[in-house]
Amino acid sequence: MEKDIAKKLFSEEEILVRVKEVAAQIDEDYKGKHPTLIAILKGSILFYSDLIRNMKTDVVLDFMEISSYGNGTTSGNIKFIKDADFSVEGKDILLVEDIVDSGKTIDYLIKALALRKPNSIKVCTLLDKKEARKVPVEINYSCFDVGNEFVVGYGLDYAEKYRNLPFIGVLKEEIYKK
Ligand code: PRP
Repeated sequence: MEKDIAKKLFSEEEILVRVKEVAAQIDEDYKGKHPTLIAILKGSILFYSDLIRNMKTDVVLDFMEISSYGNGTTSGNIKFIKDADFSVEGKDILLVEDIVDSGKTIDYLIKALALRKPNSIKVCTLLDKKEARKVPVEINYSCFDVGNEFVVGYGLDYAEKYRNLPFIGVLKEEIYKK
């Protein structure tokens, strides 16, 4: 897998340092609360597990799956695959994403969950690709900004590959322009 990486962006160590900072910030903001952290599968899985294990807050874990990319590199239609297990009504919901790109996925999710009357909904993302935004969305917690490059690793894939790379890197163009 590593041979397909053009450039490393964030090492395993750098990611953990930043994830711990964000976890501490979330702990501070949710003092006395019992938030439900919803991981948006599958890309967020590594980030989510590092985030929750570094938080001190008593959290409820839940999972949703939305597909917006298929096997390509540009956003297409959003497909709803798995709903949350628990009721959202009256809860403090924190959506955990690996990347906010066009913003369409998170915008769709926020609107869909808002109809279920949560007490609050916030967004935590590992990566924020601001340059690619097509829909304005409010991001409450973000670990790193990335440019308009194709990033993989630490949960992020290209055609379901590279998710288990421990670092985040830019994929060589020749891989996805084949
Ligand atoms: C990715 C990512 C976000 C979404 C961001 O999911 O995890 O959910 O795309 O893109 P957007 O801001 O343009 O909507 P993907 O559908 O690739 O699924 P995955 O998490 O299983 O890789």
